[in-house]
Amino acid sequence: AMFKTDRSNVNGFFLAGRDITWFPIGASIFSSNIGSGSFVGLAGSGAAGGIAVGAYEWNAMLCLYFLGWIFAPIYISSAVVTLPEYLRKRFGGERIQMYMSVLSLFLYIFTKVSSDLFAGAIFIREALGWNIYLAIIALLAITAIFTVTGGLAAVIYTDTVQTFIMIIGAIIMMVLSFIRVGGYEGLETSYMQAIPALRPANTSCGIPRADSFHVFRDPIDSDLPWPGLTFGLTIIATWYFCTDQVLAQRTLAAKNLSHAKGGCVAAGLMKILPMYMMVMVGMISRVVFTGKRKCLLLAVMIAALMSSLTSVFNSASTLFTCDLWQKIRKNASERELMIVGRVFMLFMVGVSIAWVPIVQSFANGQLFDYIQSITSYLGPPIMVIFAMGIFWPRLNEPGAFWSLMVGLVTGSTRMIMDFAYGTPLCGQDEYRPAVLYKVHYLYFAIILAAITAIAAVVVSLLTPPIPKNK
Ligand SMILES: *[C@@H]1O[C@H](CO)[C@@H](O)[C@H](O)[C@H]1NC(C)=O
Ligand SMILES: *[C@@H]1O[C@H](CO)[C@@H](O)[C@H](O)[C@H]1NC(C)=O
Repeated sequence: AMFKTDRSNVNGFFLAGRDITWFPIGASIFSSNIGSGSFVGLAGSGAAGGIAVGAYEWNAMLCLYFLGWIFAPIYISSAVVTLPEYLRKRFGGERIQMYMSVLSLFLYIFTKVSSDLFAGAIFIREALGWNIYLAIIALLAITAIFTVTGGLAAVIYTDTVQTFIMIIGAIIMMVLSFIRVGGYEGLETSYMQAIPALRPANTSCGIPRADSFHVFRDPIDSDLPWPGLTFGLTIIATWYFCTDQVLAQRTLAAKNLSHAKGGCVAAGLMKILPMYMMVMVGMISRVVFTGKRKCLLLAVMIAALMSSLTSVFNSASTLFTCDLWQKIRKNASERELMIVGRVFMLFMVGVSIAWVPIVQSFANGQLFDYIQSITSYLGPPIMVIFAMGIFWPRLNEPGAFWSLMVGLVTGSTRMIMDFAYGTPLCGQDEYRPAVLYKVHYLYFAIILAAITAIAAVVVSLLTPPIPKNK
């Protein structure tokens, strides 16, 4: 990859010379999306709540088609390197671009990097008993070498190799697990009987949910209500797959639009697998607790960890260099940008290492549940502005900016309340205000999107339209 592309300019370094074919694009979308956090998170949620969480993966197929057929054609024909840059071209002004790139960098550090490192650290500690610092610093050092020197081309090609490692490793795990539990029917009966010996008396805690084998669950009383899973999740996932730099950047590196679409289809097909190789394997682990497959699983986890982190480092550096540094230093030369880009990647590696002690001190994982919810509270307004920007010409700069602000305030209010109140343990009485436990976070995503859209329409109609010639 390093010999193939010219890494001395923005296009070569951040977009791999726009010369990647469909399969590496698809593999890179898949492996950037599936991190060690997904392996641990999906398997854990599967073990605790059954198959519904797999809908998170299947929903992505739809959003990947949105990416290939609606968003990527527009980004590619706008000839942009970053998505905040697209917003500047669409609306004019600079504050939207600034806000979006700063918010994205914040989200990468607090959600993507931290959850992957957390899952990786848990795995290294619990399964292998290694020193977390040493293991993670060694991993990050290897990651840094090829991200900093090779740019996006190196990231995409190593992602492709790691996709094979992840899929082959996880499929072997899956086959062994299903043989152990007696196939899907064996899982259905034994999962429902897998009740821990030690659990609070006179409660339903620790007993498998009656709807464990259903994806579409009760709209009011369940853990993942189906209208939320159908509509709210689509809003969050469209933000994640179509309007966030990390995954969309891969389609911008495509040879041409056909290859970008092909990559989205390939990634969509791969997204069928996690339901079986992560969620159901997690459910099986509730039935058969076995410690034997560590080495196999180690290769899978490290591939997942590295492929997501390299992509995040690369995209974060793209945002910083193209959106923020170029604003501060208007006449920066290409050479200067390449140096800044690489230094920022090293900075991200440093930030990740600084996360390790924090990650270690929150061993119970609850903090990281909250961190995950950040995405449902901050993503929907961004998705709404991109979608309305594409479909509604009348949306103007004040409309977009102020509705993003309204969305930010509404979303952060809920987020801060979530952090402040915490979640009652199973069997404890509900002490939170009704608005927190009655409005599921997937419903909240729908409400938040609606509030943002209304604000965008009202402010746009009250302010002058963007002239047609623009
Ligand atoms: C559980 O329920 C039984 C009767 O159904 C009662 O005798 C016992 O005290 C209860 N235990 C607790 C901890 O509430
Ligand atoms: C993209 O490139 C491929 C060859 O790699 C070619 O067959 C295809 O027609 C091109 N598509 C477009 C839209 O130019």
